[in-house]
Amino acid sequence: MTNKQKELVKATVPVLREHGVLLTTHFYKRMFTHNPELKNVFNMGNQQNSKQQTALAMAVLAYAEHIENPAVLMPVVDGIGQKHISLDIRPEHYAIVGGHLIASISEVLGDAATPELLEAWTVAYNQLAAIMSGHESKLYAKQVEKKGGWTGWRPFVVKEKVKESAEITSFYLYPTHGGEVPDFTPGQFLSVRLFLPELNLLQPRQYSISSAPNGEYYRISVKREAGTHLLADGMISNRLHNFVNEGDIIEVSAPAGGFVLNADSDRPVVFISGGVGQTPLMSMLESLVESGSKRPKTWIHGCRDNNVHAFKEMIEYWESKNADVKKHIFYSEVTGEESADWYNGWVDLNQLGDEIFAHETEYYICGPAGFIELHYRELLSKGIDKQLIHFEEFGPQTLQLN
Ligand SMILES: Cc1cc2nc3c(=O)[nH]c(=O)nc-3n(C[C@H](O)[C@H](O)[C@H](O)COP(=O)(O)OP(=O)(O)OC[C@H]3O[C@@H](n4cnc5c(N)ncnc54)[C@H](O)[C@@H]3O)c2cc1C
Ligand code: HEM
Repeated sequence: MTNKQKELVKATVPVLREHGVLLTTHFYKRMFTHNPELKNVFNMGNQQNSKQQTALAMAVLAYAEHIENPAVLMPVVDGIGQKHISLDIRPEHYAIVGGHLIASISEVLGDAATPELLEAWTVAYNQLAAIMSGHESKLYAKQVEKKGGWTGWRPFVVKEKVKESAEITSFYLYPTHGGEVPDFTPGQFLSVRLFLPELNLLQPRQYSISSAPNGEYYRISVKREAGTHLLADGMISNRLHNFVNEGDIIEVSAPAGGFVLNADSDRPVVFISGGVGQTPLMSMLESLVESGSKRPKTWIHGCRDNNVHAFKEMIEYWESKNADVKKHIFYSEVTGEESADWYNGWVDLNQLGDEIFAHETEYYICGPAGFIELHYRELLSKGIDKQLIHFEEFGPQTLQLN
């Protein structure tokens, strides 16, 4: 890439900042018109709420800003790559996306998109695509190296379906051909793919593995996303709850994701979850308890009330059997007397005493974006090092906190 081309790409940053989502919205519309088969690959629910458009716009913007030294983007490339490999994105897809992206820049910018600018962006895109698909090839290679490992979609049978609360149900997934499932690092997710007759499409969704690695099965725990008078019910979660039963077969991709327990550390660990955000943290806590780890483990969880409180008994059991496990539960929709078992209101770390904010502790947060942001900022304000605060959103990563 020439210096002039780098300058041209960098000069696009302010325009992208202003019109980034417009550009990527145009891009997706264009791509799905010309390549409708890709509707089976993307989460069409995310297309409606513009989160995916924003995530792509932010990634393109970050790249344009760091065009001189794309190596600084490797953590971002890895995060996106983890999502891509769980969706079976392959190098050949990059040419399709690139063609539509460059055409969209031309169509959105109109006369401002000179041939030089489009050429510069084509070179830049190809450079980024090579970095990303190169990194993803390495991630795929690592997956098949594992015992029982695979890439792409693989059939799994639902051997058990267990109701955990009024809204959350667990699915125990075993490979249809038998045999082992590869280990994963607690905190990782997998993708599940189902055919949706109402859309006439296959649709993937990510679910964190909620059990510790066991070599035999993966457990996922899915919240039924109810609609409102304005919004439709969540498509895949409702299909899993209402139509996928014990004995049914679904397609599953291999575990991936970078929000993982640092098992090498012996620091105290605090898990902070809102609602179904507890699933990756359940896997982390279970693996620590099972390994006999003596790290102090604090479980802080918030949900509406007892009815929607999943894994309550499991956490109580672990607390009763392990002196180093301590739980704090918050119910936001319960009024009246607090009990020894729960607090009234939203999760509030300040109610738990100063020892919650110890500087050597590691924190794992999972829940809605606002929940993560609130607790992240609270921890920072108490002087916690941001390297020790890990978090994950259950959707395209929109928070820019680190
Ligand atoms: C890494 C990761 C891990 C995850 N782990 C879990 C987990 O362990 N457990 C879990 O339950 N979920 C998890 N999720 C979330 C999960 O992937 C799905 O997003 C969730 O199940 C909703 O999918 P759905 O198909 O049911 O809803 P969608 O059909 O995708 O809809 C999503 C939401 O948007 C609303 N909606 C519908 N139509 C519109 C519209 N027109 N405009 C705006 N909004 C609309 C729906 O009401 C619904 O609430 C995870 C996500 C990620 C990225
Ligand atoms: C340089 C090119 C690309 C960039 C910068 C890019 C960027 C991104 C980003 C930022 C996300 C969101 C990650 C997250 O969840 O936080 C994402 C997700 C995704 N990407 Fe890419 N991507 C590129 C190429 C591709 C290609 C070639 C495909 C295949 C057709 C693809 C398919 C997807 C899908 C299906 C998702 C999940 C989206 C969803 O949930 O709807 N991407 N990508």
